[in-house]
Amino acid sequence: MRIVYVNGEYKPENEATVSVFDRGFLFADAVYEGIAVVDGKLIDFPAHIARLERSCKALDMPLNYNYEQLLELNRQVVARNDLKEGFLYFQISRGAADRDFAFDNSALTQSVVIFCQPKSIINNPVVETGMSVITIDDLRWGRCDIKTVQLLYPSLAKMEAKKQGADDAWFVKDGIVMEGTSNNAFIITKDDVIVTRPTSNEILPGITRAAILQYAGENGLKIEERQFSKDEAYQAKEAFISSATTFMFPVVKIDGHQVGDGKVGEHVKKLRALYIEESIKRAV
Ligand code: PDD
Repeated sequence: MRIVYVNGEYKPENEATVSVFDRGFLFADAVYEGIAVVDGKLIDFPAHIARLERSCKALDMPLNYNYEQLLELNRQVVARNDLKEGFLYFQISRGAADRDFAFDNSALTQSVVIFCQPKSIINNPVVETGMSVITIDDLRWGRCDIKTVQLLYPSLAKMEAKKQGADDAWFVKDGIVMEGTSNNAFIITKDDVIVTRPTSNEILPGITRAAILQYAGENGLKIEERQFSKDEAYQAKEAFISSATTFMFPVVKIDGHQVGDGKVGEHVKKLRALYIEESIKRAV
């Protein structure tokens, strides 16, 4: 049975509980991070903690743990579950209080939950086959840059994709691609330029996205951070998504349009290998 960290204790998952009054449960008043684990080590950990701090700050939520403490807790969960490959999920909610839209941080004790899930990331079969996406109207709130647990619309969007026989959905506003339900969206143009839209309050600034752009830049690849439309995406040579739980998965179909020749492209394969090599070097 999995061992879960909850509010200062490591417990078997069936004994790990949080209050029914927890504001994460009642108001989605909680932030989270999902971090990949490869060979028992944490990928891109410092950047995930920096984003967590930023999310807390944006919501006026205190963070009662420093970097070293969070590293230790996350490592403990990996070790106690003997996790080799998969992801760690950790969530910090504002805490429990009588249900009230207003909150008083000084009267609340935040609740912290960390668990892990095994998953094949490096050799996931989707890396060979690619995935299909549909596009869907972006009806999320205006602060998608904060990583909150308010994930109902992305969850429904993913279900709509499944209903239509696709694997995932890309959010679109006025024809412009924003990001995937739980990942950032990229295309590679016929001129071999890697294109992804700039960060703003409309998308999550993906940690994997930033790392890919950094490694691609360092290796002399052409990058453009600019908006792209779904019509441009249909015409792209290659397309892919990035996230901690996939690293990069190739996208071979968008709204039923085959991307390139419909097969996983060479650029995506090379870029993914580059990301894996560099991020494993830096894993902690
Ligand atoms: N999702 N955009 C959205 C909306 C996301 O939810 C995620 C991550 C990303 C990619 O960010 P990163 O590279 O830092 O994982 C982009 C995680 C994996 C999830 O909710 O499971």
